[in-house]
Amino acid sequence: MIEIHNLDLRNKTILEVGTGRGGTTLELIELLKKFPSAKLITSDIIDVKEELMQFCQGFMNVQNRITFIQSDATDLNSIPNESIDIIIVNYTLCAINSIIGKLTMAINRFFHLLKPGGILLIEEEYPIESAKTENQCIWADKWRMLKTALISSGNLPFNEIHPDQLTQILSLLNFIEIEKEDGLNMLHHSEILPLFEYQISGSISSNGDSYLEKGLLKWAGKIKKKIEKLEFMEIPYYRLSAKKT
Ligand SMILES: C[S@@+](CC[C@H](N)C(=O)[O-])C[C@H]1O[C@@H](n2cnc3c(N)ncnc32)[C@H](O)[C@@H]1O
Repeated sequence: MIEIHNLDLRNKTILEVGTGRGGTTLELIELLKKFPSAKLITSDIIDVKEELMQFCQGFMNVQNRITFIQSDATDLNSIPNESIDIIIVNYTLCAINSIIGKLTMAINRFFHLLKPGGILLIEEEYPIESAKTENQCIWADKWRMLKTALISSGNLPFNEIHPDQLTQILSLLNFIEIEKEDGLNMLHHSEILPLFEYQISGSISSNGDSYLEKGLLKWAGKIKKKIEKLEFMEIPYYRLSAKKT
């Protein structure tokens, strides 16, 4: 399994798709410090440039090697084909996959952006129906509640993809040497509850249907209590690496 932390990033250009709140970007910035000739382009469908620049202020020696591009993952048209050595897409394919067909289009775009021999690295949560233990079922319940809230307010919910299907799509689009690794993320309630509150506030909209809103808030309250009781939420995730021919 190819791991970015083991790669020689000398003179490499890395593209991150889905900057979000910068969890992975921060890890990539740490790598840029070790490789002064490496460059990072980070991109998101929404404009997070200002937050990113604030974020980078403490990293003066890498700031001029980081560029932000606001783009849909299926476009990224300002980047020339065959110009990227490594593409990193963490916890973003599930968001792209909220619109049917876009996931395949995005992976096809990644293929064209990569240089021959370039590498695609993906990290995603498993689809929620794969929850097995009690600590995983509460993770699945959390997503069921958030997805219901998003759908009922007219928004598009995340749609996780199983690694078996993703592997087939990668293979159909001519990626080779596809490897997978599973992992379990154990999150303490002190970490997960503030994130859950943030997600609830972004998902439950005041759409005037107070009956529905009350029901969703009651469901969220039950989930919060269960998370506190169990102490830890268990999140099954996977990593995939693939190479362009
Ligand atoms: C969960 S966040 C990413 C988390 C981040 N990669 C990390 O590791 O912390 C998902 C991101 O995908 C972005 N997104 C959703 N649809 C997209 C699309 N079609 N193209 C590019 N980015 C998209 C969202 O704006 C959001 O910032």
